[in-house]
Amino acid sequence: MAQDRVALVTGAGSGIGRATARKLLAGGARVVATDRDAKGLAETASMAAAADRLRTLVQDVTDEAAPADAVRAAVDGFGGLDWLVNNAGIGRSTSVADTEDADWDRFMQTNLRSVFRFSRQALGVMKPGRGAIVHLASVFGLIGYPGSAAYSTAKAAVVGLTHQMAADYGPKGIRVNAVAPGLIETAMTRERLHGDPRYRKLMLDTTPFPRWGQPEDIANAIAFLLSDEAAFVNGHVLAVDGGWSVTNYVKSAFD
Ligand SMILES: NC(=O)c1ccc[n+]([C@@H]2O[C@H](COP(=O)([O-])OP(=O)(O)OC[C@H]3O[C@@H](n4cnc5c(N)ncnc54)[C@H](O)[C@@H]3O)[C@@H](O)[C@H]2O)c1
Repeated sequence: MAQDRVALVTGAGSGIGRATARKLLAGGARVVATDRDAKGLAETASMAAAADRLRTLVQDVTDEAAPADAVRAAVDGFGGLDWLVNNAGIGRSTSVADTEDADWDRFMQTNLRSVFRFSRQALGVMKPGRGAIVHLASVFGLIGYPGSAAYSTAKAAVVGLTHQMAADYGPKGIRVNAVAPGLIETAMTRERLHGDPRYRKLMLDTTPFPRWGQPEDIANAIAFLLSDEAAFVNGHVLAVDGGWSVTNYVKSAFD
């Protein structure tokens, strides 16, 4: 299904980005995987089944030259670019009163500005009817959550950007969608998930599903949204969260 497609996945040295790169490779795509973490990226490459269809690039998505370098790697290495997954991101912010200017800027640079800049660069080479972009939003960008001002604001803006880009580029045959993960066990969440029993219990007790998410749950949704199976899906924000964001579920109330 993805045999003739070239994908660029940012933040592919860990978690959701790694699972997505592996899923797309397994489907036959050629993949450029980027991350600022050289070791993580090398681990992703070592797990990949088809090394000849994978190029890795160590870069920070907030660097000015990063989007151009990454898109060039796809064009030079594989002859073009069809799919972009704007996945690289940082987590765990604080409430407004506790947020320093530098922290706010860091979240906006990494989780929002890079999404805009990578999208702009990719749109320059994507072909109508073949192109698809998936942004990583978050359920925290859909509803409020205590102590998450900069992160949630950036993710809410990614939701807005998804809608806006769908309107601008859908007519040109390039679809733009987003996935909004719930709690997924990755490097971003593992410490809190396993080190803070109250948080773990709270998240599980408010999710109407008997487990938290794994990176593959999100990779599967991303692969679908990129694929031709989602040919009429444009501007959609797909929550993959076990039902967390659309229910008022509290486990103890229904035991
Ligand atoms: N894990 C969750 O519960 C969850 C929930 C909602 C949304 N998300 C989103 O999913 C995406 C992936 O998160 P994850 O859970 O896999 O986290 P992760 O920490 O496992 O992976 C993020 C990757 O992005 C890379 N990265 C971070 N900043 C970078 C930068 N400036 N330049 C280049 N690479 C950079 C990291 O090195 C890391 O490899 C993020 O956008 C995150 O906000 C995650």
